[in-house]
Amino acid sequence: MTRSPPNDVFTARIIAIDGPAAAGKGTLARRLAATLGLPYLDTGLLYRAVGRRVLDAGGDPADPATATSAAAALTEADLRRADLRGPHADAAAAKVAAIPGVRAALLGFQRGFGATGAVLDGRDIGTVVFPDAAVKLFVTASLDARAHRRWLELQAKGSEVGLEAVTKDMRARDAMDQARAAAPLHQAADAHLLDTTGLDPDQAFAAALAIARAGLPPG
Ligand code: DC
Repeated sequence: MTRSPPNDVFTARIIAIDGPAAAGKGTLARRLAATLGLPYLDTGLLYRAVGRRVLDAGGDPADPATATSAAAALTEADLRRADLRGPHADAAAAKVAAIPGVRAALLGFQRGFGATGAVLDGRDIGTVVFPDAAVKLFVTASLDARAHRRWLELQAKGSEVGLEAVTKDMRARDAMDQARAAAPLHQAADAHLLDTTGLDPDQAFAAALAIARAGLPPG
């Protein structure tokens, strides 16, 4: 899955949003994209789709050769699959995301997606994918706040999983994202920190929109 390489002119209209799981990045990114008229890419879906392909083929998502071939063969249709979420998919995505060959194979697609300006969210958008993005946001919230939000979402879907288990799982995913050698999660030096712990979604969006408008070129 390849698209054209990046162009300095266009990084002027890139909004890079990074942060840990369940910090509210996706909701913010989607709203920013709609308000500013930019395309939106949830880059976590790329890693989820690679993990899914490996699982479908009966392979091990932690095996570098298998996962890297799956990443090279990824199509845009893979991103529209309905089975990219859930504990099984989460675990497979985290494993393939730690493999440098997988990350390299997905870089061109992400950069090409931003060719005419875009909002992208993930873990390494402002640090690796678009280090020259016009606007960088690092969206976070306390572990307890993130786990509580994810637990409410799961409850709304009828899940009976307990808050403690959700918190434990989230702590483990944070550790994997931050400790891996390939593109670990960290705040870019020039990213704006947005801590959503005490904010409702509208307050978080208002803060993010003000930062984005101040950083994007006029027009
Ligand atoms: O944001 P998410 O939970 O959908 O991400 C799925 C996995 O992919 C998660 O383990 C983090 C990883 N990921 C990444 O390493 N880099 C990105 N740009 C986006 C996601």
